[in-house]
Amino acid sequence: MSDLARKLAAWHQQSGRHDLPWQHQGPYATWISEIMLQQTQVPVVIPYFKRFMVSFPDPVALANAPVDQVLAHWAGLGYYARARNLHAAAQQIREEFQGVIPDTLADLTTLKGVGRSTAGAILSLGFQKFGVIQDGNVRRVLARLFLIDDDLSRADAQKHLWDLATELTPTDGVASAIHTQAMMDLGATLCTRRKPNCQQCPLAIHCQAHLADRTHEIPRPKKVKQRATEQWVVLHIVDANGRSLLCRRPNEGIWGGLYAPPIANSLSRIGKDFGIPKVLDAEEQSQLEHAFSHFKVLLTLYRLEGSVSCPPENVTWVKLDDFQGGLPAPIKQLLLER
Ligand code: ADE
Repeated sequence: MSDLARKLAAWHQQSGRHDLPWQHQGPYATWISEIMLQQTQVPVVIPYFKRFMVSFPDPVALANAPVDQVLAHWAGLGYYARARNLHAAAQQIREEFQGVIPDTLADLTTLKGVGRSTAGAILSLGFQKFGVIQDGNVRRVLARLFLIDDDLSRADAQKHLWDLATELTPTDGVASAIHTQAMMDLGATLCTRRKPNCQQCPLAIHCQAHLADRTHEIPRPKKVKQRATEQWVVLHIVDANGRSLLCRRPNEGIWGGLYAPPIANSLSRIGKDFGIPKVLDAEEQSQLEHAFSHFKVLLTLYRLEGSVSCPPENVTWVKLDDFQGGLPAPIKQLLLER
């Protein structure tokens, strides 16, 4: 093991995170948590993870559950393709791997939604085997350690980072698991994007960015394109029995697979699509701004009492208070303020 990996492991024992609910729970818990953590912070993930594990304790239970139930457990986490992929991958595990999560990089990366890094995390953290990971925290640590002053989204920079990560990871399985968690913890707690705490860092004497006093500019910030705020109209239609019209959103695209009232850029568009001649009688109720990763939307909620004459497919009339399916968090917020 390298001097650097040894120092990192010693730091982790003292100062790393040891109480996360998915730690030391085997490959299934590692897989679920890694997928949840891809775009979501640890404190947000913890309660979702716990509920998910109670409802779907193993890959077969997940495979056998209706996808709507899985999506309902995901409502609020965003990036719903992750939940649909988890469900599809659980079915692959049931059909192709006898319900047991495979333990090779080649087999793991055949699973829907499992890339090289997630597979590496499952191997190391879940199976205590050699496995290499590469998430945003780890990339930042590596870029500083080795003073990589490139655009990290480029393929050649990515290959360089993977080579460095592979070389640094101890070959022994248990040591590999410690190393993986330690790299993530170092990135999350000390080697943060802004104001890294180099005084406490066990790797400071090895860190080329620190030695060159350039941690503030490594890694190079990503270029973000600013897009204008979109305007979305959300029409809450309530029938004479107090039931609301919800549409299952198409799988591809925003809030895919979740349920929401009709949404479009204008009321008249919804009126045409659903056959509502008096759509302009709808009453404006409230507004909410919501940020997705690449753009913002201003949601305006309207309410209309009545029915529709040509509902598209995938619509359902439900009592909102009894509805068990998944609603996107901003839609839930809008509707509950009614
Ligand atoms: N982010 C991704 N994987 C993680 C893990 N195992 N612990 C903490 N944060 C993470």
